[in-house]
Formats: sequence, structure tokens, C-alpha cells
Amino acid sequence: MTAPQSLAIRCRGLTKHFGEVAAVDGFHLDVWEGSVVSLLGPSGCGKTTALRLIAGFEEPEAGTVEIGGREVAGPHGWVPPERRQVGMVFQDHALFPHLDVAGNVGFGLPDGDPARVAEVLDLVGLGDLSQRMPADLSGGQQQRVALARAMAPNPRVVLLDEPFSSLDAALREHVRAEVRQILAVAGATAVLVTHDQEEALSFSDVVAVMRAGSTVQVAPPTTLYLEPADEWIAGFVGDADFIEAPVQDGLATTALGEFPADGPDRVGARVMLRPESVVLEADETGKGVVTDRRFFGHDQLVTVRLDDGSRVRSRFGPTPVLAEGTRVAVRAESARVF
Ligand SMILES: Nc1ncnc2c1ncn2[C@@H]1O[C@H](COP(=O)(O)OP(=O)(O)OP(=O)(O)O)[C@@H](O)[C@H]1O
Ligand SMILES: [Mg+2]
Repeated sequence: MTAPQSLAIRCRGLTKHFGEVAAVDGFHLDVWEGSVVSLLGPSGCGKTTALRLIAGFEEPEAGTVEIGGREVAGPHGWVPPERRQVGMVFQDHALFPHLDVAGNVGFGLPDGDPARVAEVLDLVGLGDLSQRMPADLSGGQQQRVALARAMAPNPRVVLLDEPFSSLDAALREHVRAEVRQILAVAGATAVLVTHDQEEALSFSDVVAVMRAGSTVQVAPPTTLYLEPADEWIAGFVGDADFIEAPVQDGLATTALGEFPADGPDRVGARVMLRPESVVLEADETGKGVVTDRRFFGHDQLVTVRLDDGSRVRSRFGPTPVLAEGTRVAVRAESARVF
């Protein structure tokens, strides 16, 4: 695969109100050609509206959308959705129930272009099912038909709005991996909307976190998880506990020891601890007591109250068993200072 070089999508200052509600408010986003970007944010933060502004189903009051270097919404003009070279996959698949698989996939193509239909159906692994009706497909198969339909006209970008949320948990992970693979093979540029942080982190090259109508941090998954820009983002993209950590001479002092810290001396600083970096050991002279233990099989989440009253959680494998009330020594392998 060649390195992505040019911008497939560029949004600047997009704003869209519904009555009093600013659904999208000063929204910025860059999507490099060939990359997969997730828009991640809580319900109601404007993800779907942002996607619809990019696709052209909504018109912004301010700001610009460029696709492939051409302004498609903004002061210099308006390009309607059907001429934006954008493919869209909706949450509910929205297949045409009266058309078979080939009919659905070929719907937007001149004369249904059977050769192209066969090509994309092979890409999504449904070559044998072209005559099936949507009602006779599994949820995962319907999802792949919807993706094939979006990709059939060779769009510049594919936009996916919560495409996996109607699938049950076991199927979801499988279909997600499949769709990711299909997009990679096609070298497609894609934007995925989701409110599921695990999905965003595992699916995309870049995650754009949204809050209240705009993006608040845009970063590769590992960077986002390890170096969230603020406490809200830290807590939104994973489990995180925060403990007091006054900073002096480049060191943050916490109940779990000292950590290197940038910046000036300050009293109000806190450190973020991810549960998997917190290590517990049964120890009668330790500084914490186990107050809760949730067992999941592949791992467990153990909550500890430290003697100064703060709370931290530790995630580790199925053993050892540290029952409630056990006194433990607590150590953190890494921490991020805010
Ligand atoms: N057509 C509409 N008319 C009025 N208000 C709307 C309309 N569409 C969206 N909104 C409002 O705009 C805000 C953003 O909605 P949007 O659907 O973009 O959020 P979202 O991030 O996709 O949420 P979810 O995760 O629940 O799908 C919400 O407050 C919503 O109620
Ligand atoms: Mg939505």
C-alpha cells in the first residue's frame, strides 16, 4: 500500500443548527486518502449530522466541506449528494426489500452494470448470493450488501453511520473485522461514526473524538488512549481513575509513588491511571484494601480504596484471587499527569 498523500475530506468550521440546538458547531476534520477515520462521541454530540453535512444531505450555515480538493459546500458553491462521489452505509442497512442482492448493489449504476456488481459482490464475499432477497440474509450478510452497494459506484469516500450497532455482540466483532478487511483490500477512504470506543480504537487509523458539535482530539488510537488531551477524553475512550498528584521539580507525587511530569510546579494536578497499568499484590502492610472484584474470565477488574480515600482499579488476568477486604500493595507501571 502506498502512503496516503492527499486529503480526501477537509472540513473547516462547519456549523448546523436545528432550531436552538447547535448540532454541529465549528467542526474541523481532515481525512487522508486511503485512511479510515472514526468519529467517536456520546449520543447527541452531532456525529450523524457531521456525516450528513459531508455527504450533502444537510447544508451548513457556515464553514466548508472539500472532497478530493474540491469545495462541495461553502461560500463557493454547493454540490448535491449524488455528485459528491460519496457512498453511504446507514445504521439500519436500508436495503430495498423488493430487490435481490444484485438489484440492491446495482441500483445506482448505469443499467445495473452486472460486471461491476459481480466484482463488488466478490469483494464482500457474497458472489454466490446475488439472487437472494434481503429478508433471506443474516444481519452480517445484509451489512455486507449495504457496503457493496455503497462501494459499487467507486466513490471517493465511504461514510458509515453506526453500521454495526444493529448486530448482536458476537456477530458485530466478526462483521467489523470483515468490513475493515474489505475496506483495506479496496484501498478505500472511510469515515465511521460510532459511540463505541472499542470499535473506534480497533477499526480506524485515526480517531476523531467529538463533543458538543466539534472535534476535541484527533489522533491515532494508541496516542489517543495513552495521551488523551483532557480528563473527559481519557474517561470516554477507556477506564481511567484520577488521583491527586501535586507537581514539584518535574515530579508528580501520588499515593502510588512519583511520576515524571512536564510543566511548572502546581498543586492541583492529577494523574490518570489506566486499570491495566495498576499492579496489586496481597500485602498486610500495603496502602489499599480491595473493595470490589468483577470477574470476566479472560480478566478481572478489582477496585481498591487507598488509605487516603482515593479509588483506583486494576485489571489483570483471572488469577490471583484477591477477595474483598484483602489488604494490597499498589503500584502503577505508568501514569499520565494532567
Ligand atoms: N432533524 C433534526 N431536527 C431537530 N434536531 C435534530 C435533528 N437532527 C439532529 N438533531 C439534534 O442535533 C443534535 C445532534 O444530533 P445527531 O443525530 O447528529 O447526534 P449523534 O451524535 O449522531 O447522536 P447518536 O449517537 O444518538 O446517533 C441532537 O441534539 C439532536 O437531537
Ligand atoms: Mg447518530
